[in-house]
Amino acid sequence: MRFFVDTADVGEIRELAATGLLDGVTTNPSLVMKSGGKMADVIAEICSLVDGPVSAEVTATDHEGMLKEAHYLREIADNVTIKVPLTVDGLKTCKLLSNEGTMVNVTLCFSPAQALLAAKAGASFISPFVGRLDDIGHEGMDLIAEIIEIYDNYDFETDVLVASIRHTTHVVQAAKMGADVATIPPKILWQLVKHPLTDKGLDAFLADWAKTGQSIL
Ligand code: G3P
Repeated sequence: MRFFVDTADVGEIRELAATGLLDGVTTNPSLVMKSGGKMADVIAEICSLVDGPVSAEVTATDHEGMLKEAHYLREIADNVTIKVPLTVDGLKTCKLLSNEGTMVNVTLCFSPAQALLAAKAGASFISPFVGRLDDIGHEGMDLIAEIIEIYDNYDFETDVLVASIRHTTHVVQAAKMGADVATIPPKILWQLVKHPLTDKGLDAFLADWAKTGQSIL
């Protein structure tokens, strides 16, 4: 399972990239707004830090506008993945860009039918938003199971990229279901490492080691 980080904060990305555990980055207009930077500059800097796919989202809502923005954004670096919303214009743009050999991430997916359309449009990634479904009383992870079942039935090559992750359990559930990618907020990525028994165990080992008076080197 690949781990992407869901942020446009270059400082956070640099720190996570240094762990060797980061496979890509997803951004969206809200995350770019939070970063305070200019979209093209932010994407260029992220691409200089991470070799894997870096999603940059178009903001036009019509097909021609999306295409123009996509053609501009994909010139920033080879690993730019164009993110389009799950609308008719977004799907049209996805089809055309994928025919041109550009990676496309179709975002704002909330139903299995939408995911099916994205795969038929040649998306490299589909981004179902599990947290936002949980927020309105649905079971977001059920959508992931349904999409995986549909994609497996037809051997679609579109990767299931679990988005809008709210806690570490979402990540574990996604892995158990065999989702291809999870895009995870930085705070939750760091939380994945933590377990109180790991900290307690390490403290005990170090206390006993100090009693030996030894040093390894
Ligand atoms: O980047 C898309 C998605 O992960 C957004 O998550 O937390 O705004 O629902 P959230």
